Amino acid sequence: MKTRITELFGIEHPIMQGGMHYVGFAELAAAVSNAGGLGTITGLTQKTPEDLANEIAKCRTLTDKPFAVNLTILPMVNTPDYPGYVKAIIEGGVRIVETAGRSPEPFMAAFKQYGVKVIHKCTSVRHALKAQSLGCDAVSVDGFECGGHPGEDDIPNFILLSRAAEELDIPFVASGGIATGAQLVASLALGADGINMGTRFVATKDAPVHQNVKDEIVKATELDTRLVMRGLRNTERVLNNKAVEELVAVEKEKGDAITFEDVAPFVVSKYADIMKNGIMDEGAWSCGMVAGLINDIPTCQELIDSIMSEANEIINNRLVNLA
Ligand SMILES: Cc1cc2nc3c(=O)[nH]c(=O)nc-3n(C[C@H](O)[C@H](O)[C@H](O)COP(=O)(O)O)c2cc1C
Repeated sequence: MKTRITELFGIEHPIMQGGMHYVGFAELAAAVSNAGGLGTITGLTQKTPEDLANEIAKCRTLTDKPFAVNLTILPMVNTPDYPGYVKAIIEGGVRIVETAGRSPEPFMAAFKQYGVKVIHKCTSVRHALKAQSLGCDAVSVDGFECGGHPGEDDIPNFILLSRAAEELDIPFVASGGIATGAQLVASLALGADGINMGTRFVATKDAPVHQNVKDEIVKATELDTRLVMRGLRNTERVLNNKAVEELVAVEKEKGDAITFEDVAPFVVSKYADIMKNGIMDEGAWSCGMVAGLINDIPTCQELIDSIMSEANEIINNRLVNLA
């Protein structure tokens, strides 16, 4: 299947793995890329630019296919050394970056100078248009269903992707709520050139996270996520658990007076314990509604192969017979 995204990134299948904190290590990025998709190392999970340089070097030993690095640009208590991370990406020879969060504008000149392709993840058409005007090569359009930060507009993908198709000239991938070949076909029909998945890739054999995390995703239904931090305009979709129930209770009690200090005990520095050690009630962790469609733990190769064969079967048998 050839699309503007497979051509832009030099990959076999129009399937991308989005950056994921404490999940997107070299092992997962390489497994996705080896299976013909685009794997992504999560930049800020690496504590320093030197650590990121080492992770990029490690990924090169695991795959000779293209892979990306995610650079998440968010308001943080201690601002990370972004110029250092950008340098590690460029000097590590990585030629695709997934930016997310705030505008990638401050880093665009450096990326362009070294021929790094930029795909910016956005949750609204206006941000996608801004990314296009900044010279981004593509955007990832992340609907309200998504795991992680869906923004504050709450527009689900049936509308958001159709609106993106109306407005954008650059290619875009559909992101959020996707796990199947049927959804890949639907995304293409709505104007996207491929798909981006997060939660689905966590529940794979190759994801270097604790088995408990994968089991929780398989167990969960589409009703089991919650939105937290809305009052701070930093909404995150997470899997419900004991810590999240406590956090939601605190948010209810504080109302409009909520501050970051109120939520910090449930969201700061929790990922290592959850993802590495499998302590599932330790805090809030990102998970999409798509958990309701995830019932197995395949390898990335098995997953991507099955998505592609389902998509091809739908296009060549079902849809062709409707015409
Ligand atoms: C556990 C987890 C951690 C994530 N961490 C990040 C992150 O650090 N930076 C980022 O840009 N997106 C992050 N995301 C969002 C994903 O890259 C992707 O956009 C999203 O998961 C797509 O929605 P889906 O989960 O429904 O497939 C995370 C998602 C999950 C599930």
